[in-house]
Amino acid sequence: MAAFHSPSTASIGMVLLLLIGFSMAAFAYGNFYHKFDVVWGDGRAVIQEGGDLLTLSLHKTSGSGFQSKDEYLYGKIDMQLKLVPGNSAGTVTAYWLSSKGEAWDEIDFEFLGNLSGQPYILHTNVFCQGKGNREQQFYLWFDPTADFHTYSILWNPERIVFSVDGIPIREFKNLEFLGVPFPKNQKMRLYSTLWNADDWATRGGLVKTDWSQAPFKASYRNFNADACVWSSGSSYCSSNKNAWFWEELNFAKKGQMKWVQNNYMVYNYCEDTKRFPQGLPTECTFADIL
Ligand SMILES: *[C@@H]1O[C@H](CO)[C@@H](O)[C@H](O)[C@H]1NC(C)=O
Repeated sequence: MAAFHSPSTASIGMVLLLLIGFSMAAFAYGNFYHKFDVVWGDGRAVIQEGGDLLTLSLHKTSGSGFQSKDEYLYGKIDMQLKLVPGNSAGTVTAYWLSSKGEAWDEIDFEFLGNLSGQPYILHTNVFCQGKGNREQQFYLWFDPTADFHTYSILWNPERIVFSVDGIPIREFKNLEFLGVPFPKNQKMRLYSTLWNADDWATRGGLVKTDWSQAPFKASYRNFNADACVWSSGSSYCSSNKNAWFWEELNFAKKGQMKWVQNNYMVYNYCEDTKRFPQGLPTECTFADIL
């Protein structure tokens, strides 16, 4: 019997080693294959380098996009993006979380391209139950096309924080007790697309996409989600083990956010009194003092 056992034990050992090898490879390199589906512009969205890198491209015929396989109810999500270089005017690289249905919730990053040497605009918005109108826009303090930078969304029961390279640029607090809706019941998926929006994106649609520069290309890497992943009807998450679940902006982070808002903010709905003649939205009045 022993004679029969030895080879089979050895081959089980081999299989185990192979399996371990595969799963380690999956952890190290399989990120995009395992976490995302290409859902638009087939062939123009390409996962490369064994799953380490994803590129979206925009041709005159179509853009492209992907979405996460998982859905999240709260999380801290990081992605590194390198945006369309050169003359990217008219193009928009959107990167957002969204739920489904008519009363959807959404947390948006959108990068509006520009002529060579002119600054991108980072556009942000928060939708609650199908209603947005909470735009804030920023210039960046670096060239987002020269290298990868980390764009993060922290979404927990108390706040949504948008960060760039770890520097918070915007906070949307949970002010439900003042009647301001806050996304907290609907699971969201992560999406990203590269598309042509030259009817509005660059200087309100004045600058058109230069198709002689196509295909336009944006790249993604180092996705990380510390998140409560939705699975068969509930959200799997042990909140007491996740520091991000209760994370708030400390004094230093608030100072960084002020620096960005004082120096790089292009548009703030909370200052647009013309747009809200009946009075600014409640969260604009109370956000700073609370
Ligand atoms: C593009 O560059 C112009 C000129 O510097 C600037 O006014 C504009 O805000 C920039 N961004 C977009 C998206 O138009």
